[in-house]
Amino acid sequence: MTGLPWDASYDGPAPWDVGRPQPAIVRVAAEGGFAGAVLDAGCGTGENALHVASLGLSVLGVDVAETALAIARQKADDRGIDAEFAAADALQLEQLGRRFDTVLDCGLFHTFDGDERARYVASLASVTDHGGTLHLLCFSDGGPDTGPHPVSQEELRTAFDVGTGWQVTAIEPDRVQTRFHDDGAPAWLATIKRI
Ligand SMILES: C[S@@+](CC[C@H](N)C(=O)[O-])C[C@H]1O[C@@H](n2cnc3c(N)ncnc32)[C@H](O)[C@@H]1O
Repeated sequence: MTGLPWDASYDGPAPWDVGRPQPAIVRVAAEGGFAGAVLDAGCGTGENALHVASLGLSVLGVDVAETALAIARQKADDRGIDAEFAAADALQLEQLGRRFDTVLDCGLFHTFDGDERARYVASLASVTDHGGTLHLLCFSDGGPDTGPHPVSQEELRTAFDVGTGWQVTAIEPDRVQTRFHDDGAPAWLATIKRI
């Protein structure tokens, strides 16, 4: 998995790069959804990771796009926020040699197809402590004017079937803000436990 195609997305403002954390993630954080060591998988330019880090949590954001990571590091410096950003393939997270209590996926799962989804789910499991939590925000098939690669609830439940070491505890309708939706696009906010 090379980051080059994704890097190109960051030559200008990417469609998903709204310059602030996603309201759904801000809400999860305000409700105490993040604890311990936090991983943001596919962190992009880091708005969500930086928000969680600003609350005093230890956060690592990983992405394949070096351009996005450079922007994220610059934001952390400019804002005086202590957060770590590293290049890593979310399909091979075990190579990080680290473990996490809470994982965030904001817009990454829905970019993967078939085989990649199974690899991604296993990769996430390999770095998440038992009892840990994954918060996953993705475009949903639940309304008009959704984003690319919308996902159904069934696809989420199939991907994170108990046999994979995960248990879906909630899937709620939500919104993902983009640069092309005035009021965000239809999304699912899934809460998934590592068992
Ligand atoms: C739709 S964007 C979302 C970015 C960010 N989470 C946000 O909300 O702004 C998906 C991100 O996943 C990254 N990505 C794609 N494939 C990846 C992989 N295999 N490993 C790590 N990051 C990946 C892309 O570079 C991109 O930054």
